[in-house]
Amino acid sequence: MSPQEVRDWVRAARRIVLLSGAGMSAESGVPTFRDAQTGLWAKFRPEDLATEDAFRRNPSMVWDWYAMRREALRQVEPNAGHRAVAAFQQRHPGRLAVVTQNVDGLHQRAGSPGVLALHGNLAADRWLDAPRACCDVAVLRTGSPPSCPVCGNLRRPAVVWFGELLPAAELAAAEDAAAACDLMLVVGTSGMVYPAAGLARATPGRVVVLNPHASDLDDAADAVLRGTAAALLPLLLEEQG
Ligand code: OAD
Repeated sequence: MSPQEVRDWVRAARRIVLLSGAGMSAESGVPTFRDAQTGLWAKFRPEDLATEDAFRRNPSMVWDWYAMRREALRQVEPNAGHRAVAAFQQRHPGRLAVVTQNVDGLHQRAGSPGVLALHGNLAADRWLDAPRACCDVAVLRTGSPPSCPVCGNLRRPAVVWFGELLPAAELAAAEDAAAACDLMLVVGTSGMVYPAAGLARATPGRVVVLNPHASDLDDAADAVLRGTAAALLPLLLEEQG
């Protein structure tokens, strides 16, 4: 299948879902998780950094790791892929929904409206334990992590860790969008993490995988385009003059 043929599918599609993973932001300079040399999980163990248990064991180490990633995000910009998606949405309001596993906020910064962020937001934090009245009124005690000076409740990154439920409203909206779409573009994900990957398996729409390497969702695809997000998405989504 050629990008030109997939372009025709895009043109014909009334409702499109773009399901993105870490590869979407790779060309912005954000590391992926599972790429062999450069992925975060090649250097760090998720069970040390991306579970609630890990945070309770060593809150400052986990907080600092997320703070480092947050800081790194300040140095990067949306790439041509993010921009092509946002421009398409602005030209065709309501026709394309972005569902992302990414916590980097780059789709939003590119101008995509209504992004469904299934794994949360790296820039935000929330209480670790259910907040008491003191948490809501007290001035945070600064620290790594910040905490409630009265009860000691800790702030934690507002991302979804392994073993945690996805935000219910986002997941339900993503499932509805997947059920209603006639085309799903699956961009830059290894397709190994559920329930996100399940959206591509459940949709009645055509599925196109955009990825320079093999992924676990290739077998669910009607077409696989081997290329990068920043190269392929402008080709598929931009008007040709
Ligand atoms: P992965 O690191 O598992 O997969 C990244 C995918 O992007 C791989 O299939 C790469 O081949 C592909 N890729 C690399 N460069 C690319 C490029 N320039 N353009 C397009 N694709 C490219 O990342 P995810 O699938 O997003 O979860 O991982 C899923 C979840 O696992 C993440 O959301 C994160 C992680 O643990 C949480 O943080 C909860």
